[in-house]
Amino acid sequence: MKTMRRSLDSACVILPPKVFQLLEKPLHEFRGHGGVVLALTCSKNGHLLSSSVDKTAHLWKLGHDQCQGLYSHNNYVTCIKFNPVDDNYFISGSIDGKIRIWKVEGCRVSDWTDIREIVISVCCRPDGKLWKKPERLRTVGVQNEQFNVYLVVMIVFVNVVRSTGGNACFAVTPKFESVRKLENVRVGRASRTIKAVQTSTEKSTTITTTTSVAVEITVLKTLGGVLHQVGLVKEGLHVELVAAVLDPYTGLEKPTVKGFAHKKDKYIGDNKISYESNLKIPNDFGKVGAIIVENEHHKEMFVENIVIIQKRLLGGPINVTCNSWIHSKFDNKEPRIFFVDKSYLPSQTPSGLISYREKELKILQGDGTGERKTFERIYDYDVYNDLGDPDKSDDLWRPVLGGKERPYPRRCRTGRARSKIDPLSESRTTSIYVPRDEAFSEVKHKSFWSLLSSLLPRIGSSSDNDVGFPNFTAIDNLYSEGVQLPAATNKSTINLGDILPRLVKAYDLLQFEKPELIKRDTFSWLKDEEFARQTLAGLNPCRIQLVTEWPLKSKLDPKVYGPAESAITKELIEQEIGGFTTLENVRFDQLVLSMIVFPRNLHLHLFTAPLQVLEQNKLFILDYHDLFLPYVTKVREIKGTTLYGSRTLFYLMPSGTLKPLAIELTRPPIDGKPQWKEVFRPSWEASDLWLWRLAKAHVLAHDSGYHQLVSHWLRTHCCVEPYIIATNRHLSAMHPIHRLLHPHLRYTMEINALSRELLINADGTIEKSFFPHKYSIEISSVVYDQLWQFDLQALPADLISRGMAVEDPTAPHGLKLTIEDYPYANDGLLIWDAIKKWVTDYVTYYYPKANIVQSDNELQAWWTEIQTVGHADKRHGSWWPVLKTPDDLIGIITNMIWVASGHHAAVNFGQYDFAGFFPNRPTIARTNMPTEDPNDTEKEEFLKRPEEFLLKCFPSQVQAKQVMAILDVLSTHSPDEEYLGAKIEPYWKEDKYITDVFEQFSGKLKEIEGIIDARNADHSLKNRVGAGVVPYQLLKPFSEEGVTGMGVPNSISI
Ligand SMILES: [Fe+2]
Repeated sequence: MKTMRRSLDSACVILPPKVFQLLEKPLHEFRGHGGVVLALTCSKNGHLLSSSVDKTAHLWKLGHDQCQGLYSHNNYVTCIKFNPVDDNYFISGSIDGKIRIWKVEGCRVSDWTDIREIVISVCCRPDGKLWKKPERLRTVGVQNEQFNVYLVVMIVFVNVVRSTGGNACFAVTPKFESVRKLENVRVGRASRTIKAVQTSTEKSTTITTTTSVAVEITVLKTLGGVLHQVGLVKEGLHVELVAAVLDPYTGLEKPTVKGFAHKKDKYIGDNKISYESNLKIPNDFGKVGAIIVENEHHKEMFVENIVIIQKRLLGGPINVTCNSWIHSKFDNKEPRIFFVDKSYLPSQTPSGLISYREKELKILQGDGTGERKTFERIYDYDVYNDLGDPDKSDDLWRPVLGGKERPYPRRCRTGRARSKIDPLSESRTTSIYVPRDEAFSEVKHKSFWSLLSSLLPRIGSSSDNDVGFPNFTAIDNLYSEGVQLPAATNKSTINLGDILPRLVKAYDLLQFEKPELIKRDTFSWLKDEEFARQTLAGLNPCRIQLVTEWPLKSKLDPKVYGPAESAITKELIEQEIGGFTTLENVRFDQLVLSMIVFPRNLHLHLFTAPLQVLEQNKLFILDYHDLFLPYVTKVREIKGTTLYGSRTLFYLMPSGTLKPLAIELTRPPIDGKPQWKEVFRPSWEASDLWLWRLAKAHVLAHDSGYHQLVSHWLRTHCCVEPYIIATNRHLSAMHPIHRLLHPHLRYTMEINALSRELLINADGTIEKSFFPHKYSIEISSVVYDQLWQFDLQALPADLISRGMAVEDPTAPHGLKLTIEDYPYANDGLLIWDAIKKWVTDYVTYYYPKANIVQSDNELQAWWTEIQTVGHADKRHGSWWPVLKTPDDLIGIITNMIWVASGHHAAVNFGQYDFAGFFPNRPTIARTNMPTEDPNDTEKEEFLKRPEEFLLKCFPSQVQAKQVMAILDVLSTHSPDEEYLGAKIEPYWKEDKYITDVFEQFSGKLKEIEGIIDARNADHSLKNRVGAGVVPYQLLKPFSEEGVTGMGVPNSISI
């Protein structure tokens, strides 16, 4: 073992059967100790053990260079001995006073004792009986008859026989002075005397004192849970307290402290009930790090929190926030574990919790096989292959979304059986699995489920689904008189009036509340200024963009879609804006060659442009041309709908408001006919004015479709689901980033599953009511493929990419808006900055330096999986942020929280206010423009009764009513809504700093509330204030319950 140059043949050793003399040249040399070697011992099976002042013992195998095992003490390991009868065990002694029995395999301590004196030698009986195996200790306990042999330790001097610098060898020369054999008695321990120590663990329990601890478990009464039967049951909960740190002497987990919690009768709240257990824990147990709970009932139960109370030893109550369903042990034998409220990065995990942390994540990840059961909590990925129902009908087949052909985010894997017809599709079910703790609040679940499963089918059971409204009075009657619901087709006992009182009045009368839009101005839906205003302050304020290239030109293949040039000409624009600017200012005949740097891709583009207008950033566009044109032919094959590509151009007036200039509708070559396109303009002439209104109806349908399928579904609900899955799979519940994100990710998976089940599925309400019909969700896949980037979900980046803002360090929020009075942007940036400040304060607290971000294995695995699995079809995007610094993490988290809170609120909670009167935002345009293929009869009818053309173009009665009912429920805040910054999470209360910075966040949001109120009272802001105008309140942080058109919840929960 001395220091020698390694010989080439060192790994191949043949030991002679007998050694008669010692040679100078070693047969084999092992390297690995970091200090002087103190002791050696050989086993019968050819292993060698060495111990050292480096506080370790090393296991070697003759013929192998590498150390085979490492065994640690807290000080010099002075002595080692193999078990004479079982080579799988050895004993070690150390200056730290510990004697440990090791199991060679796994390098585990199987038993130990502390003699509190320097140990320099150990020996044992030749029959090896002093060795005890852990299995015996744990299952049988100590049997004195069998284990009445004691370690005999002699305190003797050590002779230094040779020393060669750092690798000196000591020869230990123990001398036995006597051996004593006693039972359950610790022998005297003076130096140079024999010390006998019983190897039983029983002694520690007999001398250890304990203290009483109360465990209080708060359980919520739930609709489906155990507590509706609670009065009848005697079962309770098994609990086990887990020590935070390992036993310092053994390196093993301390035994848990077990008990049973019984239901108590004391009152703790209307919907709550308490279970309590009194336990005795050893005084040397240390801090409790977690609690294991097993549900003895036959039904699941929802545990809100657990409090462990023992002031004297534990320093006050220990809080464990659960908010989780606990399955019955009869469903799943694996008990649940809950960690205490203190957050830990992986590297900071208390030693006693490391294995529990890892195990819990493995449970949540599952193994990717099998069909998920309702009580499970497994988070895994799958493609969208369950929207169709090919087993029921060929018409209900839908392509798989997710993959190279149709890129899409991943959804939660359910593992259901495959379709019999299409092996790529998953079979349908009446209840889609989500991990159990993703369940809605029951209030929301009840109303949404009743809507989807009961009200919509009844509305849809009308004999003729295609009938439109005969006149506008019939539309008004939806609000004033209501309409009788068709009788229920099934034997449903649900009283819809109880659950959806805003929609269903007594005697099954479907009667809608008047939306805010027409409450304030009955005719606002007809007005061009309102049409334009809503692109900035309406339901879909995130599609309008600055025109940066001129002339407008399609990028689609002209051989397939016809000429690429737009029919909107400079002369046409000149006519429209002539009243607001002079020809001297706008010389459209003077086209110039300019260059512009697009912030999104930093590409240089060459273009010719009407210099003044473009350079002054006055032209804006709602562009649905290239996106929808490829679907026109396919959509027109479906009865009851039609489609164009559309461009709508706006001019920024000196007043700061937008004026619609022109709508261009395009039909590609179809049925042997060439491309058709026409530009429609606001007009003072009757026929053109009605054509303009019809063209607006088409554009509004396009915008409604884009809003619902992209701005709402894709960008929030759909794209966030992979974040949720990855967060639960890779960030432990005790991880601070898990706890930061959790309020913003809850409830989303369940509403997504319900949507897959009844809303966006084949022949679901979305398909039946929106213009793309069966191509609805497929179009969102096209947008995901072409436009979605993670970085552009951040509000500032989104605004810049659309030309609605430029970076300006001197401006508020670092951005100068292209349209100064852009309500969505102005209010959104306030929320964005508040979120970013809170996230910065939080993240830098746990990650003061970049290396902590980089070395956090859970965090890195989380981010990698989001990119490569959750958004696998976009994994090669160069725009994915790297995650190396605290700033990187702040950017990523702020982006996610903004999407789940601010962005979703902006596109969700105004749905009824703006689209509850469907002429303002029809979801479908069912008829072509009368000028596309004019015939005399149609022309005459149009001239006679143009209103009928508009009513025929609008959604059918069934479509309108179903969409209005959905929008009403989607726009409703439940009584238990959780608003951004409103309430601190219980687990943050443990930490004063986090509590303080959350209070600042909360205070900032209250301040924003006041700022937005002030803005809505400022009459200079004409895009949000005016006669009959709905003020822009969608990003006001807080709200009462109901349909209020304001309030920013934490998460996408409806
Ligand atoms: Fe939503």
